[in-house]
Amino acid sequence: MKYSALLRVWHWLNALAIFGLLGTFFLRKTFLSWRTNSELMVQKFAEYDIQITTEMAKTVAKAIRAPMWEWHIIFGYFFLSLIIFRIYIFIKEGVSYKDNSSLHKKAVGVLYSIFYLVVIFMGLSGVFLHLGADFGVSKDSLKEIKELHELSAWFFVVFVPLHIAGVVMAELSSEKGIVSRMISGK
Ligand code: HEM
Ligand code: HEM
Repeated sequence: MKYSALLRVWHWLNALAIFGLLGTFFLRKTFLSWRTNSELMVQKFAEYDIQITTEMAKTVAKAIRAPMWEWHIIFGYFFLSLIIFRIYIFIKEGVSYKDNSSLHKKAVGVLYSIFYLVVIFMGLSGVFLHLGADFGVSKDSLKEIKELHELSAWFFVVFVPLHIAGVVMAELSSEKGIVSRMISGK
């Protein structure tokens, strides 16, 4: 299988975008979690005999998180431009993963198809979350979209390690050079 230059460029830019989006998700849930950090602030200020309310701590913790989360939106729009780029490649070159020579190849093809469906959903739901309120989308609908957006994010959490393990195993067994082909095309 030969990967076109366009597909290769798209692949690595897209990997960067997804690592960025998952990275901001990870930070939001861990080091920059407002729950953890607001509890920490209440505790640490109490050691100086300063009583702050959980409400105050929550506001500060969210303010600390905000500049990091801006990167979710930046990577988000980068990711959206890559969706358009990928659609252009689909139109120009057709589907790149239609090798049906074995059950395994078919399964990989199905996984990539699911990947692209989830990608489209993430792109659309992300824009809704970012701009929906400005266009009058109700708070309840936005809440539901956010839950689905967050749930679908887990697909990538599973896909990325599975995909990397898969190509490393292919590289080490029957498809030596598969990773360098995704880099150099040869
Ligand atoms: C940094 C580690 C990565 C390596 C070494 C890698 C390597 C590869 C290789 C060798 C292929 C071709 C495999 C095949 O033909 O089935 C491929 C395809 C693909 N990779 Fe990755 N990849 C990486 C990260 C990612 C990430 C983070 C994503 C997105 C979450 C991703 C998404 C895809 C997709 C969707 C395809 C199929 C492209 C198509 O034909 O439409 N990859 N990757
Ligand atoms: C693969 C792509 C994406 C992944 C894995 C992802 C992941 C996530 C996750 C997990 C959340 C929930 C965070 C939480 O409440 O704990 C979230 C929220 C959000 N995402 Fe994404 N996202 C992706 C794409 C996008 C795109 C394309 C945009 C828009 C350009 C976007 C904009 C947003 C916004 C505005 C929120 C709501 C944040 C808030 O309520 O403060 N996302 N995303």
